[in-house]
Amino acid sequence: MADIKLSKIVKNYGDTKVIKGVDLDIKQGEFVVFVGPSGCGKSTLLRLVAGLEEITSGDLEIENRVVNHLDPSERGIAMVFQSYALYPHMTVEENMGFGMKMNGFPKDEIASRVDRAAKALQLDKLMERKPKDLSGGQRQRVAIGRAIVRDPKVFLFDEPLSNLDAELRVDMRLQISNLHRELDTTMIYVTHDQVEAMTLADKIVVLRDGQVEQVGSPLELYNYPANEFVAGFIGSPKMNMLPATVATIEGNDVTIILPDQQSFTLACEAARLSVGDKVTFGLRPEHHAAGTELPNHLKFTTTDIERLGNSTYLFGEVGGHHNYKIHVSGDMEAQRGDVMTFSFALENTHLFKDGLRIPSL
Ligand SMILES: Nc1ncnc2c1ncn2[C@@H]1O[C@H](COP(=O)(O)OP(=O)(O)O)[C@@H](O)[C@H]1O
Ligand SMILES: [Mg+2]
Repeated sequence: MADIKLSKIVKNYGDTKVIKGVDLDIKQGEFVVFVGPSGCGKSTLLRLVAGLEEITSGDLEIENRVVNHLDPSERGIAMVFQSYALYPHMTVEENMGFGMKMNGFPKDEIASRVDRAAKALQLDKLMERKPKDLSGGQRQRVAIGRAIVRDPKVFLFDEPLSNLDAELRVDMRLQISNLHRELDTTMIYVTHDQVEAMTLADKIVVLRDGQVEQVGSPLELYNYPANEFVAGFIGSPKMNMLPATVATIEGNDVTIILPDQQSFTLACEAARLSVGDKVTFGLRPEHHAAGTELPNHLKFTTTDIERLGNSTYLFGEVGGHHNYKIHVSGDMEAQRGDVMTFSFALENTHLFKDGLRIPSL
């Protein structure tokens, strides 16, 4: 169990700058998820914490001690990778105990820790099996078990569920979440999947191009994204973004014109805006109601429709801007080409100028 502190962490490979000055505090017992698009530096940052890569500059502290130059084995960390890397000729039990055996632990200590981890992961009935006789999910649980028996202060996971099919991923996600609750150990988890980030994290760190875009709880990021990038990355399907214009400003009341010529007025930090400014209007697909139920409206032309029974996805355009998505619960009948009015609540709207969110009041 450990507090971890990253200060101005930089990683260069030759001339290539991969991590560009990351500051981050991780509290003891916290479940922190690094999320971001492929290539943004998630794995590199995790490997710097693990000690598998050398930090170019900046300090990494674990429990108030700078550990930049400590060997991975001296950092009290266990890492679980996407590829399980189990020993094919060993049983589940042998795979889980192998690290401890190499480190010279007594047999009964190994047996008791392996037994406890196996029970926590429901592997106790599979102890004599070899990896080839296990499903993908079971193999990943063995890999996690191997990390647990080392009794680390920190668990690091790098996309551990990416090789599993969708149903199993949901199942394993719940298991990892339960495991965190039981062990109460600090965990850092890397994924490009925002659903995993939302469901697992106490704290999400959104990375882009080697830099932190925003740190916050899942719902802070969902409700108050700091910028267009975070707004687009958190939430599925993505938040709709439309170009809009500031028509009038009266006090903090700002009137915005949307591309379909509909307008609405919202209270926000108006000092950052001027009449005539080009801004971006953001509204999540799930924040629309059919018809004029809510006070503000937009005109939507349907180009595609997906009816799932319990909910309906509509794809179309607003004021000539394509790729607009609407998600409503329940079944909805619509035809391609239908022009429909949808309404929305002001509290669900987002306004961005130069990429940054203008806080609403
Ligand atoms: N050993 C290396 N040498 C040079 N560039 C690297 C090396 N490892 C990673 N990179 C680069 O660093 C960037 C971030 O990689 P990575 O941390 O693996 O991203 P992610 O895990 O977010 O997909 C990528 O552009 C990748 O090509
Ligand atoms: Mg990676």
